Amino acid sequence: MSNTNSFWQKLPPHFLILAPMEGVTDIVFRQVIAKAGRPDVFFTEFTNVSSYASEKGRHDALERLDIAKDQNGKNLESPIVAQIWGKNPAHFADTAAALEKLGFDGLDINMGCPDRHVNKAGGGAAMITTPDLAIECIKTAKNATNLPVSVKTRLGYTFIDEYKTWLPLLLEQNLAALTVHLRTRKEMSKVPAHYELIPEILNLRDQISPNTKIIFNGDIKNKSAAKALAAKYPQIDGFMIGRGVFENPYCFTDHTPTQTELKELFLYHLDLYDARAKELENRNSHYPYEPLKHFFKMYINSQDGSKELRNQLMACKNTQELRRLLK
Ligand SMILES: Cc1cc2nc3c(=O)[nH]c(=O)nc-3n(C[C@H](O)[C@H](O)[C@H](O)COP(=O)(O)O)c2cc1C
Repeated sequence: MSNTNSFWQKLPPHFLILAPMEGVTDIVFRQVIAKAGRPDVFFTEFTNVSSYASEKGRHDALERLDIAKDQNGKNLESPIVAQIWGKNPAHFADTAAALEKLGFDGLDINMGCPDRHVNKAGGGAAMITTPDLAIECIKTAKNATNLPVSVKTRLGYTFIDEYKTWLPLLLEQNLAALTVHLRTRKEMSKVPAHYELIPEILNLRDQISPNTKIIFNGDIKNKSAAKALAAKYPQIDGFMIGRGVFENPYCFTDHTPTQTELKELFLYHLDLYDARAKELENRNSHYPYEPLKHFFKMYINSQDGSKELRNQLMACKNTQELRRLLK
């Protein structure tokens, strides 16, 4: 597919994206966010291409790549982009070819993850230090699929100025979209995102690859924060929101939820959790309960006694107990 007729070209101006978040933006959580207020684009958690390419890892990889569908097989989360990572070009080709058949609208290559294990394996932000390999992976993925290929990256591995050579190199690959998390790998998430570099990065895009959608990420908490940045820099195409969802699951809308709405959304999350757990059990797999606890604060945060209630929720052992407490 050429970049000119992919879904990226049909999005509204200043579109909003749900960021890929490992252990968070799985099939269940994406449906929760779709119910609260849809982003313009969904991203999955990242999937390792070598895991998909191996007999042992494929089952897990495919589980991560499940998309919610309606009775007619139509995607309920749409458009949806699968994010992948790795360092083996042949495995990128295998995975890229599979993603098209699985019903994804696009594929995104992670070149920004700062996790030590991921970097040691040569993936994520480590790709910034192996640009030839990074380009080979992009090219192989593009050749293996008709899906539009995008990249999510950081400014550099160690130094901010690395963006001056790294981003042009990526833009020369005629990507459908490029998301820039405005920090270096070394900075992790410990310093404010470098918004001051936005004009220069926009210039690079305009000069090198005007058709590539440019998306900024880092500390953009909600729709109104995205609007404020758009007012200042109208040439930005899109905004990606990650941790903002924990502060407000309705962050892709202008709506401030009431406590009742948050509680209803929590109960909806529990219903989806149970359905997924049952489905995976039928597939001889398992959907763990513990990670559900990461979300309690998202729903129970502002009312009197919320800390006590959260402590009680933490002590629950299953969704039945959670529901009893909430009701
Ligand atoms: C729990 C968690 C998991 C993440 N997993 C991924 C991931 O799988 N792929 C990715 O590209 N970025 C991942 N990120 C980074 C986010 O996508 C985003 O770049 C980062 O949180 C900065 O944006 P924010 O300030 O809006 O949160 C993760 C972040 C968090 C907090």
